[in-house]
Amino acid sequence: MSVFQGKHILLGVTGSIAAYKAADLASKLTQEGVLVDVILTRAGESFVTPLTFQSVTGRRAYTEKDLWGSEAHVLHVGLGREANLLVIAPCTADTLAKLAHGIADNLLTVTALAAQCPLLIAPAMDGGMFDHPATQENVAKLKERGAVIVGPAEGHLASGLSGKGRMVEPFEILGNVRLLLGRNGKLAGKKVVVTAGGTQEPLDPVRVLTNHSSGKQGYAIAESALASGADVVLVTAPTALSAPVGACVVRVQSAEDMLNAVLEECKDADALVMAAAAADFRPKNIAKDKLKKRDGIPQITLEAAPDILKTVAGQRSGMKRLKVVAGFAAESQSLLENASEKLKSKNLDFIAANDISAKDAGFEVETNRVTLLFADESREALPLMSKSEVAERIVEHISRLLE
Ligand code: CTP
Repeated sequence: MSVFQGKHILLGVTGSIAAYKAADLASKLTQEGVLVDVILTRAGESFVTPLTFQSVTGRRAYTEKDLWGSEAHVLHVGLGREANLLVIAPCTADTLAKLAHGIADNLLTVTALAAQCPLLIAPAMDGGMFDHPATQENVAKLKERGAVIVGPAEGHLASGLSGKGRMVEPFEILGNVRLLLGRNGKLAGKKVVVTAGGTQEPLDPVRVLTNHSSGKQGYAIAESALASGADVVLVTAPTALSAPVGACVVRVQSAEDMLNAVLEECKDADALVMAAAAADFRPKNIAKDKLKKRDGIPQITLEAAPDILKTVAGQRSGMKRLKVVAGFAAESQSLLENASEKLKSKNLDFIAANDISAKDAGFEVETNRVTLLFADESREALPLMSKSEVAERIVEHISRLLE
């Protein structure tokens, strides 16, 4: 099950123009299965209405009026106690100062004082305000108490100036929520290396041989491992995807580069998942200069690219911590026979057999249908599910095998 599913998150929204982005954050968290209770400060309400949040979360959004309502004496305690995490995004310089000093003069700050859960703050203010020694001291004080401060980012500010003060994007806050909720998970203290994307094999300085891999499945596995508390190294071929928050990202181009990065990272890793579509063949010669039309149609000779999993299998005795190695089998025919053969020949602990001839599974789409085949000959046929759900199942098996 996803680390987000069924968790209670309190989202405090204070008076900054970035409050509109908080609606997107609330929506993204809700879509992940989080129960989001929003508390708007009076200034926050001037930018976005409670109805906006209620519409995306399906739950009541609280405002200053609720502090003095009939449930007032218990509301802040109840909200604070139920929450797994308190996120304040955007957080103004004023609210930051109140939190640092334990001031509790509105529903949000009184709830923050009553809450026992971790605190994540995404500041938003004008550049000069963030750099002010008073704000810097408040930030330092909150960090010392264990609060996680995300951002602010550099860029265009509402004042028309440019500087450090923009609230980070919801994607980044969501990534940090994942890390915080998962930090004591089953893979805490374990290093997991994940590869993703389709490698590019150069032909000349402008052309490459590549494949249709989008990297989605590999990135989802990296996110899922992060949500279980792992230290994740994502070795990725070029993709259009954003790097998962908290992963150490190693960018590579060719299968050869990927092999070198994987061998280096596996020296102290506990698990490796090869989700990348690494090239099997590459041009034998890479032209130093761009191949020109006037020279006629080039004849390209291919040679074998290194098989990364086979090389790792051959060096496993030197990789003392590496207990789990998993791969994928992308097949368009005889799925289970071919996958089973790869499981053995690549000396894997398990393999995810992937029928790439189906329209709703495999390359580029959001869903996947895989059968997991294990070294002990057990099998698990998973129904059609999202790539994130496939990733969770794979990560669950890694935790089980590492136990
Ligand atoms: N793989 C690898 N090195 C390569 C190619 C693939 O380590 N040069 C890994 C993939 O990441 C995957 C597994 O091997 O986890 C199986 O990949 P797949 O393309 O299905 O099989 P191949 O071994 O390349 O064999 P074939 O293409 O002939 O089916």
